[in-house]
Amino acid sequence: MARVLLGVTGGIAAYKACELCRLLVKDGHDVVPLVTPGAERFVTAETFRALARRPPGDDVYLHLTRADLLVVAPCTANTLAKLAHGLADNVLAEAALAHRGSVLVAPAMNPRMWAHPATRANAATLRERGVVLVGPDEGETAEGELGVGRMAEPDEIFDAARNLLMGTGPLLGKRVLVSAGGTREPLDAVRFVGNRSSGRMGVALAAGAQRRGAVVTLLAANLAVPAPAGVELVETPTAADLEREALGRGVEADVIVMAAAVADYRPAEALAAKRPKDKAAWTLELEPTTDVLSALGEHRHDGQILVGFAAETGATGLERAREKLARKGADLFVLNDVSRTDIGFDAYENEVTLLAAGTERTVAKAPKEEIAAVILDEVEALLLDG
Ligand SMILES: Cc1cc2nc3c(=O)[nH]c(=O)nc-3n(C[C@H](O)[C@H](O)[C@H](O)COP(=O)(O)O)c2cc1C
Repeated sequence: MARVLLGVTGGIAAYKACELCRLLVKDGHDVVPLVTPGAERFVTAETFRALARRPPGDDVYLHLTRADLLVVAPCTANTLAKLAHGLADNVLAEAALAHRGSVLVAPAMNPRMWAHPATRANAATLRERGVVLVGPDEGETAEGELGVGRMAEPDEIFDAARNLLMGTGPLLGKRVLVSAGGTREPLDAVRFVGNRSSGRMGVALAAGAQRRGAVVTLLAANLAVPAPAGVELVETPTAADLEREALGRGVEADVIVMAAAVADYRPAEALAAKRPKDKAAWTLELEPTTDVLSALGEHRHDGQILVGFAAETGATGLERAREKLARKGADLFVLNDVSRTDIGFDAYENEVTLLAAGTERTVAKAPKEEIAAVILDEVEALLLDG
């Protein structure tokens, strides 16, 4: 049984925290509710005391005693700012400063409040400190506005809390950088050269790493699927964006997984405006892009694990993947055959060969989430060897 401090702050979603409290108690945890005065306008502290089965006359300093996990759900913009800056003007903020265990935060606010640079900076500060953010989700807010700001569902927050509490795996607290999707290289203002990658494999890896306790940054190149809630999302639509962010953010990462299909070539010149249709042929010159994986391999630091993906077609794919593993300085290469329509690009399933120094093994066709789990098991083993 773990001791969980459950912070509830002043948003409409406060009522949903009742269900979260119930789930935590049902899972056998000792829950200490910390309801802010702002939240008491929506729910009563009494309700949470009852749900948490706290005895009357409970120790008023209980919030300052050792706890394994602090969950703040919903977390208002106000409390997010307090957590980022270390204010201690109510029992929850005070507890957060005194707390030394894991912290999980489920923000909930108006989409414009969430998008404000001040809130973005506060969320980034917390993530840098290792705080796990779940959500917010996209959808309609209580006031009928559409956008990102809704609190994640209680069962999702509960799952994340459980993972943090049980997380003893080597990815706990590790910084994992994952790229996903396919880059698009502009030809003119509206056209691009791209590929069919949906981002499913990279998203499954990011979600899997997060579930294992990692602090995940996802470099997203035109994803066709939603990014997992709670990961730090960085949009990298072109190969140049992805190169810049991967090299910049890779410095801090313990694990880098380059699952995105990054263009090998881009138009040498992109027109600023849309080229009007005419009878003339349009001849393109394509120039090679930087090999991001090789560049990461050159700059990697001691103990950093580097995983590359090889999207190959045909029988010679394995040969080429072996050669890439040796040349690019990666610890692990994931080879997938993109000539098949049932696996690889834009498919729900994959079948891969994992290549590491001296070992090769094929992982049978399975949903990408399961393939991601096998890859992450390998990463964990490499970290332990490291
Ligand atoms: C009806 C109503 C709904 C609100 N909903 C939210 C919300 O969802 N998210 C948020 O950040 N603030 C919301 N606020 C504003 C907060 O309640 C306010 O910033 C308060 O100071 C938060 O205090 P706390 O963070 O200590 O709980 C709402 C205010 C009102 C009156």
